[in-house]
Amino acid sequence: MAKIIFIDHGGESRTVEAENGSTVMENAIKNGIPGIEAECGGACACATCHVYIDEAWTEIVGPPSPMEEDMLDFGFDVKPNSRLSCQIKVSDALDGLIVRTPERQA
Ligand code: FES
Repeated sequence: MAKIIFIDHGGESRTVEAENGSTVMENAIKNGIPGIEAECGGACACATCHVYIDEAWTEIVGPPSPMEEDMLDFGFDVKPNSRLSCQIKVSDALDGLIVRTPERQA
């Protein structure tokens, strides 16, 4: 289990309890987190689950795979700490993870 903190574009934060092995995107959808659409259902084929990883967590979460990086090209306002939340698997190591949602999805 890991706590994941989502901070929306307006600065409001929401904390969810996420099961190990699930993805950050699945937990966002399950908990009705605004700002994450996940149109493709987690297939790394839409870029509407785009989030920004908090600076303190970028090394722990790691970089996107080449396939994810290609898909991120379609994201809105992509930054060096951008990731697709459907490609981030929850584990105990991510307990306390902070992600921010962009102003809008692409
Ligand atoms: Fe479509 Fe993540 S849900 S790329």
